[in-house]
Amino acid sequence: MKIKRHIMVHNSLPDGANALTINSGTVFHTHHQPPVVKYLDEEFVPEYVAHAYVNKRDWRKLTAEELTCLTPDETRNDHNTIYLGEIPNELKACFKELELDESADRKEVYVRFQSNPELTQKATQLLHEFLVPYANDKKFNFHCIGINFPNIELVACNTTMLPEGYKQADKKCLGIHNDGTQLMTIETAHEFGNRISINLGKDSRYFLFVNLPLKVARKMLEEKLSTDEFIQVNISNIPEYFFKHFPDYPVIRVEQKPYQYYIAATDNCFHDGSTLGGKHLDVCIVYFGNFQY
Ligand SMILES: [Fe+2]
Repeated sequence: MKIKRHIMVHNSLPDGANALTINSGTVFHTHHQPPVVKYLDEEFVPEYVAHAYVNKRDWRKLTAEELTCLTPDETRNDHNTIYLGEIPNELKACFKELELDESADRKEVYVRFQSNPELTQKATQLLHEFLVPYANDKKFNFHCIGINFPNIELVACNTTMLPEGYKQADKKCLGIHNDGTQLMTIETAHEFGNRISINLGKDSRYFLFVNLPLKVARKMLEEKLSTDEFIQVNISNIPEYFFKHFPDYPVIRVEQKPYQYYIAATDNCFHDGSTLGGKHLDVCIVYFGNFQY
């Protein structure tokens, strides 16, 4: 299946189009054996939630036609465009000096921030200054420091139900998903802004996404499903329905090298992160806002 012209990509990465690859769609998670994760004293094969779908692995460069299909126009905004780029050198230098990328685990990341209050303050200030021009005169806020083990094909999982001190192997990966909450519907998911996620680790990480707003995915399902089935589709189960009925819709993958960022409305499109091939701890910093430029 060809990608449709919906979510666009504003790409300022030094690698340009070479940072992007595309595949031929998705499969139910049981079709693939996830790679073994060996890190620190843990060794496990990640497990998925029962209804998860995952990307096929036939990544290739995009054709000229596909790149044109993603080229942003003047209608670009916080929910119809994914922005890719690199943080300014001064901010990069600040994060480098903090040596977050030398951290072996989550605790070490926090210790590096805590033991360098001045550098942490400077990084926060520089990050704020970097984001202001992109914030569309709206509020933005720090969301989290995201930490993942290396070599996890699709990192997203829900840890809120796990007991304190859980092992990585206890997590259940969601597969390609929309972030969504109970506060939103498929129709309103585009109204909740977007996020910027900056890679602060040592390795490349990947951002995977399907370039369809949820509303469009829903429309495609409406044309495919019986009325009885279609009325079951909601913000929580839409990935399941979509990937079951459109397994050939391609997934796009962005390589995010250290200090590179993506900005995406992750409530409004199917996506996930990947640390496949990595050897070191994955560290990223995430802000919520309505970023666009
Ligand atoms: Fe997500």
